[in-house]
Amino acid sequence: MTDALELPRVHSGKVRELYDAGEGRLLMVASDRVSAFDVIMAEPIADKGRVLTAMTWFWSEEMADVVPGCFLTANPTEIEAALGGMALPAGWAGRATLVRRAEMLHLECIVRGYLAGQAYEEYEKSGTVHGMAMPAGLLLASKLDEPMFTPSTKATEGHDINIDFAAAVDLVGAEAALQARDLCLELYTRAAARCAAAGFVLADTKFELGYVDQVLNLCDEVCTPDSSRLWPADQVVPGTTPPAFDKQPLRDWLAALPWDRTPPPPPLPAEVTTAMSERYVAAYERVSGRSLSDWYGAGP
Ligand SMILES: Nc1ncnc2c1ncn2[C@@H]1O[C@H](COP(=O)(O)OP(=O)(O)OP(=O)(O)O)[C@@H](O)[C@H]1O
Ligand SMILES: [Mg+2]
Repeated sequence: MTDALELPRVHSGKVRELYDAGEGRLLMVASDRVSAFDVIMAEPIADKGRVLTAMTWFWSEEMADVVPGCFLTANPTEIEAALGGMALPAGWAGRATLVRRAEMLHLECIVRGYLAGQAYEEYEKSGTVHGMAMPAGLLLASKLDEPMFTPSTKATEGHDINIDFAAAVDLVGAEAALQARDLCLELYTRAAARCAAAGFVLADTKFELGYVDQVLNLCDEVCTPDSSRLWPADQVVPGTTPPAFDKQPLRDWLAALPWDRTPPPPPLPAEVTTAMSERYVAAYERVSGRSLSDWYGAGP
């Protein structure tokens, strides 16, 4: 991915670059980078940035009647026109989205329908999830009685910290926390039903919300394999790790190595990056019913 755009870069995240596109807009560009345990791996995952962008676009359209989205266009021709005829660098078509710049809510709005990941680790230790008491007897990949809003802090450095609802209220105020909770539970329920129809369990997902003109908007990425756990529904057996279509296989592969989770990361063999790329593309295509080859830009 070249980086020759004449726009000031305002942020470089683990996966995305943000550029100031003027008039209250940002150009958000999803790279092929992958992070695990908050460390960016050295090897890119082919097609990942296009999958994240296509999938976010798909979901933002699906959810438009529930919440406004900050997403303006991912069409490269429209982006170039909106930037006054500025040409997008080679390779950016399909991974660049023009968005409204939002005042981000300082919360990671996680919703969980199943017990997995850090929530499962916490439950095993203390019987709680984000500090909230849970029924006894739950297993890894157990379905929860009701989807739970389990926010975390949005750390600018280091790891996000899982918090309960009261702590979210302390962070962003009662009104914003309640609105975020209600919106995200509705978004999760909507997305989980759509995934179920495609044969997937959306075990959990993380939304990011931000204010545009004082209204909460859906921002960042939406129900992608980076921000969600996505399991093939027919292979979910409580007590076992489902063969996920998300980052989990990479985390599991890394967890089996003697690595202390600080940079530099271990080199990823080609079979790991290839399998991951194939799973990301499959997740998009099966969930959306669309082909990645119909999305903007070209594969590697
Ligand atoms: N519409 C928007 N307006 C302003 N900021 C946004 C918008 N959409 C997404 N963002 C922010 O852009 C960044 C996207 O970068 P990326 O996803 O790579 O970050 P990250 O690695 O998850 O977190 P960090 O930025 O802390 O490294 C996030 O900080 C996200 O909150
Ligand atoms: Mg992010």
